[in-house]
Amino acid sequence: MNETATLWWDTRNQSIHYIEQTLLPNEYAIIECRSIERLATAIRRLEIRGAPALGVAGAYGVALAAVLADKNDMPSFMASVQRDAGILRSTRPTAINLAWGIDRVIASMQPAQGCRDACSRAVAEALEIAREDTACCHAIGKNGAALLPDTCTILTHCNAGALACSSWGTALGVIRSAVENGKNVKVISCETRPLLQGARLTTWELVRDGIDVTTITDSTAAYLMQKGAIDAVVVGADRITRDAVFNKIGTYMHAVCAHHHKIPFYVAAPYSTFDAKNSASDVIVEERNRDEVTVMGSRTYVPEGAHVKNYAFDATPMELVTAIITETEVLRPPVDIPKLLSHRSTT
Ligand code: MRU
Repeated sequence: MNETATLWWDTRNQSIHYIEQTLLPNEYAIIECRSIERLATAIRRLEIRGAPALGVAGAYGVALAAVLADKNDMPSFMASVQRDAGILRSTRPTAINLAWGIDRVIASMQPAQGCRDACSRAVAEALEIAREDTACCHAIGKNGAALLPDTCTILTHCNAGALACSSWGTALGVIRSAVENGKNVKVISCETRPLLQGARLTTWELVRDGIDVTTITDSTAAYLMQKGAIDAVVVGADRITRDAVFNKIGTYMHAVCAHHHKIPFYVAAPYSTFDAKNSASDVIVEERNRDEVTVMGSRTYVPEGAHVKNYAFDATPMELVTAIITETEVLRPPVDIPKLLSHRSTT
């Protein structure tokens, strides 16, 4: 199976490299990024996307900010890093990993003895976050693979694959690990309107790995469930609060249908995606540009003057979730998430 990184730090050039995801599947291009403005644009445009990958991008972004900042005195160095961190943090509000990666690298700089030491610490922490993310994906894959039947058809939504992480993937990590363990897994990949991360990215990843994949329109999912053609749903997450799972718009619809048809609904995500402080009603759901909905190719399909709603994410209530597959365990709701996280931070 292909295990190339989605984004990485170039130690020699002190820059970020990433696969430009808006071009896939037609073009495979690697971009080198050496400015915070360019990185912020890449995140806003979804050249880099997916919650764990955003965590790594935020971490590398702070490392880059530290590399670029004047190193004359510590207060102005840290003010410059914080300013750049603020620019990156504001790019996308829903996936919690972005802020998590940024905050973790900034915290790693606190004990530094001077600017150069702070910069080295930032780079080291960002590299560690990327390394941990890959390890988490493999552990999630192993934990999740055990839940799947030996022969099964899995529906997934959006892209929670290698491209959404530093590599391997969360939901696709489960599928990859199951295939590696000899299970016969077929995948139904929902196209994921409006930006088609499922059709373009998930399907591309699975074809590349030789895993059996069928792409459907999002609205076909319920019909396939009704026909008994889906054994389980496995999706990723952008944020998990105590009461809901935030994931790509359309996920809630699949969860409701899965519940109705008594099909297990699994969420695969690392602990960096958990948000113990907030409940669903506190979370800002990103709303994106109307053109993503109204324009396809060079044609506009919605008359001017019509209102358009383009929410990027929805919230699936915890009672519809069969299990959350993490890097250390499989959680079966109801789970006391704040208690679980405070226990993790003290052990
Ligand atoms: O807007 P995106 O492409 O960044 O959204 C990503 C998702 O919502 C994915 O579904 C994914 O499950 C979360 S990241 C593993």
